[in-house]
Amino acid sequence: MPYTDLRDFLKQVDGLGELRLVRGADWNMEIGAITDLAQHQINGPAVMFDEIKGYRSGFRIVCNTLGSASRTALLLGMPTGKSWRELLPIWRKRSKQIPKAIPPVEVKSGPILDNVIPKSKVDLSIFPTPKWHELDGGRYIGTGTVDVIKDPDSPWVNLGCYRAAVADNKRVTLYISPGKHGRVLRDKYFAKGEAMPVVLVFGQDPAVFMAASLEVPWGTSEYDYAGALKGEPIPVVRGRATGLPIPATAEIAVEGFIRPGQTAPEGPFGEWTGYYASSQREEPVLEVENLYFRDDPIIVGTPPYKPPAEFTAYRGLLRAALLWEQMEQAGVPDVTGAWCHEAGGCRLLLAVSIKQRYPGHAKQAAMIAAMCHAGAYLGRFVVVVDDDVDVTDLQDVIWALCTRCDPERDADLIRRAWSGPLDPAIDPDNKSFNSRMIFDATRPWEWRDKFPPVVEPSLETRQAVAKKWGGLILGPGNGLVPAKKNGAAGTKRAAAKPPTRRDRKRSR
Ligand SMILES: Cc1cc2nc3c(=O)[nH]c(=O)nc-3n(C[C@H](O)[C@H](O)[C@H](O)COP(=O)(O)O)c2cc1C
Repeated sequence: MPYTDLRDFLKQVDGLGELRLVRGADWNMEIGAITDLAQHQINGPAVMFDEIKGYRSGFRIVCNTLGSASRTALLLGMPTGKSWRELLPIWRKRSKQIPKAIPPVEVKSGPILDNVIPKSKVDLSIFPTPKWHELDGGRYIGTGTVDVIKDPDSPWVNLGCYRAAVADNKRVTLYISPGKHGRVLRDKYFAKGEAMPVVLVFGQDPAVFMAASLEVPWGTSEYDYAGALKGEPIPVVRGRATGLPIPATAEIAVEGFIRPGQTAPEGPFGEWTGYYASSQREEPVLEVENLYFRDDPIIVGTPPYKPPAEFTAYRGLLRAALLWEQMEQAGVPDVTGAWCHEAGGCRLLLAVSIKQRYPGHAKQAAMIAAMCHAGAYLGRFVVVVDDDVDVTDLQDVIWALCTRCDPERDADLIRRAWSGPLDPAIDPDNKSFNSRMIFDATRPWEWRDKFPPVVEPSLETRQAVAKKWGGLILGPGNGLVPAKKNGAAGTKRAAAKPPTRRDRKRSR
């Protein structure tokens, strides 16, 4: 267990020298703009805001918590000081060693019970709630939120990260995209004419947040997944009104019910695609029955901005590992690398590499990458490359696309795929489906042996020259990727290449 709770995690982040304290910032866009500064750079610092204008000192917000390779490594029990591409193979190995599930454990007390406020006394305006982006239609208390929703037909408890805005002092709106597990569960309650019990958590153990934000399979509780990530059960207390499990070390939680037909205006909101794409709509609203919070609570803020941002950092790594895993589970052999590119918000542009084994292998890989659960929601482009291409390097991927893919032969369209209101590229009045373009950027199977050779020195020459002259040519301090270590794509070539521009920017 690398840390106990959010506060302990942040103490360790401070120990790494990656936590900054900002006092006296304004909730009205200043906190949002500072967060953008921090997260729009590779490996930017985590930022704690205290003494927020108009709010009680000690009522804090922390942003960009997981926006660096070292902080993500700390959370996942991996060595710090590595680059993102170095972490991918480490995480692939580690994720196979950790247990599949460690269920939560119910406890009678915990810091979340420091303050328990009944409905009559609930006042959400005590919490510093930023207006994050200029065109936001409201103030979002839940950006790095964890939403706890139980299946009405089974004991399964689902966690999702679905945004929440303050509607008034006792109510919050909840936006869940079509197809998300929380949305399907909500539809089940509403179809029976029943109110849906919900807990919203606004600051929690980062493992719980990470699990909630990932596409964990239907029927698997993210609590179990978070426990597995952490190597020990997540302690939970029972919500007094809903009976739902609330993380015992959470910072702030509200519980209540979402009732069919009860809505409030929601949006627009600056979204992960880099646009305010979903305009204002009526969305279900949660009436708070009980408010729980720790003394001096910390809200976790993860507001999206034009990528790269915090979510493209840690989620890019974990989603790439998940994509790779799900492709293997679907029976695609010899996948040698996967990456969810930052520029596409780690959803819209996926790159996978394979060692081609048979005709049609590349098309199979592309289709599965585009449609497996980790890749299906709001994707756009999938590029399949040979295993000599470094999938984590955008330059390398685009080079392969430009030189090995002839669109007439190698591009295909998948129509009527899973999208939703956040997709900026589809008709604002009909945001249901989008399409996918899959590119086979591997050497054409039939004449792959006749494909022109790549213009680059041999591996041995590059290694020898890099060793002898790399310091001079690349400049001091850049170092070289050790020849024996695997790169992110797990290929020999990636291992032997001198660091790319991405590495130089990303490595610390
Ligand atoms: C910071 C952040 C904010 C998110 N906001 C939303 C949101 O407002 N609505 C939504 O449907 N999904 C949102 N997501 C994506 C879901 O949390 C994610 O797809 C998750 O896997 C959903 O859980 P589920 O698979 O159990 O439905 C967000 C993810 C992150 C990391």
